[in-house]
Amino acid sequence: MKHELIETRVGLLIGLTLFAVSVGGMIEIFPLVFDGSTKPTDTVKPYSALTLEGRDIYIREGCVGCHTQMVRTLRSETQRYGHYSVAGEDVYERPFLWGSKRTGPDLARVGGRYSDDWHAAHLADPRSVVPVSNMPGYPWLFENTLSGEGTADKMRALKALGTPYTDAEIEGAQAAVAGRTEAQALIAYLQTLGLDMRNYEAPASTSGE
Ligand code: HEC
Repeated sequence: MKHELIETRVGLLIGLTLFAVSVGGMIEIFPLVFDGSTKPTDTVKPYSALTLEGRDIYIREGCVGCHTQMVRTLRSETQRYGHYSVAGEDVYERPFLWGSKRTGPDLARVGGRYSDDWHAAHLADPRSVVPVSNMPGYPWLFENTLSGEGTADKMRALKALGTPYTDAEIEGAQAAVAGRTEAQALIAYLQTLGLDMRNYEAPASTSGE
């Protein structure tokens, strides 16, 4: 049997498996290289100093364990959250915070949906605004203030990786952050989520038309 030929020769099996996997991989990856969907969308901007700190608090507090930032291309999702996620809007995301668990709703489009005051009340005690919520409260975020000491260094590191921060933005980073509470930084971050995508139009090659 021909099957036996392959299954009894480990080297051949590995070689043919790698071949099959790389053909599949190329079919998935090559179109992305050429269709422009992984380029920055025209509207996407790097995080400001304060929102960058807010993002780090989001990571530290484990929000990603209960919230995704990835709207799938399903009608039920786009009607609830907004435009589905595209590769180009994530070019400055290091690391990605797509998540995989939705105990709470997706947050990729939450920016501008609520007021800053709503977020403050919600973060301090979620049940004060959503009585059935099982999200934990984060009261300490309102007591801890940021010094902004490491912010410029973080921006320099991101710049080395390709985020186009200007020297003026980096120099002004500490002043933009110092003295703000962690809650202010986190809320500033939440309020930016999805704003880049408000006026997004898919490039012709990816719009499916
Ligand atoms: C244990 C899971 C859990 C964790 C951890 C968690 N959340 Fe939530 N979150 C929820 C649930 C459930 C809801 C829906 C009920 C509500 O609005 O409180 C929610 C709602 C929200 C909403 C409102 C979203 C909308 O569209 O209505 C925001 C904003 C939010 N969470 C932010 C955060 C942030 C920021 C953190 C981290 C500091 C966090 N969450 C941590 C479970 C969680």
